[in-house]
Amino acid sequence: MDQNRLRIAIQKSGRLSSDCQLMLKGCGVKLNLREQRLIAHAENMPIDLLRVRDDDIPGLVMDGVVDLGIVGENVLEEAVMERQATGEAAEYSVLKRLDFGGCRLSLAVSEEFDYQGPKSLEGKRIATSYPWLLKRYMDGQGVKFKSVMLNGSVEVAPRASLADAICDLVSTGATLEANGLEETDVIFRSKAVLIQSASTLATTKQKIIDKLLPRIQGLQQARE
Ligand code: PRP
Ligand code: ZN
Ligand code: MG
Repeated sequence: MDQNRLRIAIQKSGRLSSDCQLMLKGCGVKLNLREQRLIAHAENMPIDLLRVRDDDIPGLVMDGVVDLGIVGENVLEEAVMERQATGEAAEYSVLKRLDFGGCRLSLAVSEEFDYQGPKSLEGKRIATSYPWLLKRYMDGQGVKFKSVMLNGSVEVAPRASLADAICDLVSTGATLEANGLEETDVIFRSKAVLIQSASTLATTKQKIIDKLLPRIQGLQQARE
């Protein structure tokens, strides 16, 4: 890869991908995303987009594999906590909090569950893709639990008897509703953020960032 091209990691498919692409388009970055390629080169600026799973974005930025990343704060904070626990470096800076990708990480139980607050989950199994954020919340509540790690289909866990409760992302609430679950505690509120690697950037790359940031700011102001 060309070292003079700014590398930005974005989610390949999911809740952030279309808003990310729209934002870049709004910044004047011309992308050819028709092909399902991992790397998309901007046609009119020295920018390469890496299209990956959102969970991989914090690590790619913190390891300096890419220069920038757009990711949900939920995924970012979870990755930071995991890295801190394993003694790995977790350095990055937030360039901008974005105005899309809003969601919350919440606890939810089945409608039949007699929920009287977090203490009702003492000793219970909670299915989640965010074990570190969940543990921090439950530690704060003084409640011990067992986490059941699932990377997807978390909402079916109670019905499948894999867990007694879940801790998952909620945006419209449709997924909870469709699965007979009730949101009980919001444990983390999240939006998309633009983050930058802690490695020193080449001047050429810094110049592109200096061009992009005011454009992002302009887009957000126009939407306010
Ligand atoms: C989240 C979550 C639910 C859904 C909730 O998954 O796991 O499946 O969104 O949204 P709703 O309240 O509007 O129904 P998502 O696919 O966004 O995250 P992921 O791609 O990182 O798994
Ligand atoms: Zn994900
Ligand atoms: Mg999901």
